[in-house]
Amino acid sequence: MASNKSLLILPGDGIGPEAMTEVRRVVDWMQDNRAVSFEVDEDLVGGASIDAHGIPITDEVVDKAQNVDAVLLGAVGGPKWDNLDFSIKPERGLLRLRKDLELYANLRPAICFDALVDASSLKPELVSGLDIMIVRELTGGVYFGEPRGIEDLGNGVRKGVNTQVYTTPEIHRVARVAFELAQKRDGRVCSSEKANVMESGVLWREEVTKIHETEFPDVELSHMYADNAAMQLVRAPKQFDVIVTDNLFGDILSDCAAMLTGSLGMLPSASLGDVDEHGRRKALYEPVHGSAPDIAGENIANPIATILSYAMALRYSFDMPGEADLVEKAVQNVLAGGMRTADIMAEGMAKVSTTVMGDAILRELDKLNG
Ligand code: IPM
Ligand code: MG
Repeated sequence: MASNKSLLILPGDGIGPEAMTEVRRVVDWMQDNRAVSFEVDEDLVGGASIDAHGIPITDEVVDKAQNVDAVLLGAVGGPKWDNLDFSIKPERGLLRLRKDLELYANLRPAICFDALVDASSLKPELVSGLDIMIVRELTGGVYFGEPRGIEDLGNGVRKGVNTQVYTTPEIHRVARVAFELAQKRDGRVCSSEKANVMESGVLWREEVTKIHETEFPDVELSHMYADNAAMQLVRAPKQFDVIVTDNLFGDILSDCAAMLTGSLGMLPSASLGDVDEHGRRKALYEPVHGSAPDIAGENIANPIATILSYAMALRYSFDMPGEADLVEKAVQNVLAGGMRTADIMAEGMAKVSTTVMGDAILRELDKLNG
């Protein structure tokens, strides 16, 4: 079967490879059962790339990533590479991909599955039915701002510097993504910054407001300081629909939102760039969780976030919403049936391995597919 759908898989480190093994089974299932084939390539990123090539990602892999429809990444990092120089740490591989592909809009849905309401650290009534979308700016702000570095001032005094910086186009493009998403959801965007103490926050607020007034008057816009947003997320999370925020606040708020759902092991994310001249939108999909080196290789990790990241790729890169629904439904049904990996284990449920969770999802896909 000739394929016009290309996918680059970068399993990375820690639990990344085991989770990705289960994803590949789902990709194969699509091929066998839905008459869609993917041209799949696999390569190294993070510590795995450092071990093989001395750097966290090679130019060749970045080049491959530039030329596929979607990249699916597992996770990067681990104690083995903790003491390396900052510039060649495993995380730099991921940051380079985001930057070089200009993946400026990071979509992090926080959805509470009915079956997992009790796994949240919040009361069930606060999280049941929760469905929020955090849109995090991903290629600007303090993560990439210059000047940066550690300076020796002499006399044993050192100075560490990072720069928070945003230009209007950077704010406009991510704001548009948030407003467009809200139009397909509940029609509400909450923009978050620290305009009370940061000029970049004042600019952020003014520019998001401009885009709202001129292009999206049908969407409801509110503003919230980031510290308050963190507090509101644990006080009354269901008040939010779409939250749009900068790179650093988005990093923090999305972990916070993720935990409301019971487990980081459940949450996928999509990082999107602009649409190119061939109508293709650069995109990278990855779970929100990290590489969890402490449990790597034990076949106990939860593969669901990575599988759901593939479902997001089906939805946003391959225009296959039916297949995306199918994968999401299969996951829901397996959870409803009582199977749990260790991270979401609860009393009365059946604790299963990574592989058995994968088996169950495939069986459920067979059932749903008739
Ligand atoms: C994330 C992670 C990354 C980040 C790290 C691994 C560089 O925390 O994707 O949220 O800070 O962006
Ligand atoms: Mg993070």
